[in-house]
Amino acid sequence: MNLRERMQPDAAVDWLRVREDFPILRRSIHGKPLVYLDSANTAQKPRQVIEAVDRFYREHNANVSRAVHQLGEEATALYEGARDKLAAFLGASHRDEIVLTSGTTMATNLVAYSYALPRLKAGDAIVVTTMEHHANIVPWQLVCGRAGAHLKVAPITESGELVVEKFVELLTPEVKLAGVVHVSNVLGTVNPVKRLARECRKRGIPLLVDGSQAAPHLALDVKSIGCDFYVITGHKMCGPTGTGALWARRELLETMPPFFGGGEMIREVKFSGTTFADPPHKFEAGTPNTAGFAGLAAAVDYLQGIGMANIAARERELLDCATRRLNDVPGLRIIGHAPDKAAVISFLIDGVHAHDLATLLDQEGVAVRSGHHCAHPLMQFYGVAATCRVSLAFWNTEAEIDALVEAISRARELLA
Ligand code: ALA
Repeated sequence: MNLRERMQPDAAVDWLRVREDFPILRRSIHGKPLVYLDSANTAQKPRQVIEAVDRFYREHNANVSRAVHQLGEEATALYEGARDKLAAFLGASHRDEIVLTSGTTMATNLVAYSYALPRLKAGDAIVVTTMEHHANIVPWQLVCGRAGAHLKVAPITESGELVVEKFVELLTPEVKLAGVVHVSNVLGTVNPVKRLARECRKRGIPLLVDGSQAAPHLALDVKSIGCDFYVITGHKMCGPTGTGALWARRELLETMPPFFGGGEMIREVKFSGTTFADPPHKFEAGTPNTAGFAGLAAAVDYLQGIGMANIAARERELLDCATRRLNDVPGLRIIGHAPDKAAVISFLIDGVHAHDLATLLDQEGVAVRSGHHCAHPLMQFYGVAATCRVSLAFWNTEAEIDALVEAISRARELLA
């Protein structure tokens, strides 16, 4: 199912009213209304999320899973409630398949050190793709380095699509795991993760899907994808920073040793040796970001309240509008033309450095990201040091896309 087929909106949404939920969007920047087009970097937060965090500290603050008093029980219920909501959001079979983490990076490192490293030996390999961001490259490099294993990289086309046949060719017996981004943070490409999972499964190779950019925009169902690990980060899905999750098949979590040691991940500690709690608690040492998870639970409610199909449909409209408008800008070249694409547009303008453009756009109140987008190898593939990137969310408007295009025109005059 491609992105167009997935978008079957089931209700009319008043997007301007939805926009009112985001207090920061009322700000002015350098005397101009804020036009926030950097959601792939971090999403803005609706008041429902801000209020959930505020309410946690005002009314429920206590440590989790270790206090019998009322506040301790309330804090634990909020924390465990976030696990329930994330399990439902991701389509997990069981809440115990959700490990709460500080984000995608920690979730991926957990899999790298706890699942991959004990299984890797010299000569083994991990498969990734050219379009990965650093969080889905560096953890694998680190564990491969320790084991004498290596990375194999599946190529992409000039238009920014994974060459699936080549990916499949790389799935040889020495491959112990594959890691693939669901939605590219630079190109917007939506990868055919279901097909990739099927090919990995046929060969007994576990697949980790990095859902950092997918979770905020698409309806997800890890069971139907058929992967083995799925990682997400809360701050890109309207939740607080420092929150995220790993979903993993229960049988895999059961084979994994703890990654961090400390409080609340144990069954019994003796100086002669320690026994550990069952998953997922075995992987959640120390005091978690409980307020953050109260906020992430509110973010999941918020996104589901609007409906992921409605969000995908609205963002498709915005993507089509922005693509059309940017294509009309003389000398502007978009990088990434996959037919199944999320609302991310990277571009270059002849003779204009991406950072200079982003700096001038900021003077107009328009926030875009410029640089390598934490994806050096992808920049190397396209032979560029940096791009400008517009990333849209459902609260953006066509008027904001007009403001972007007008700001680009003024910037070009200044930079010409
Ligand atoms: N936060 C990074 C981005 O902007 C990865 O895409």
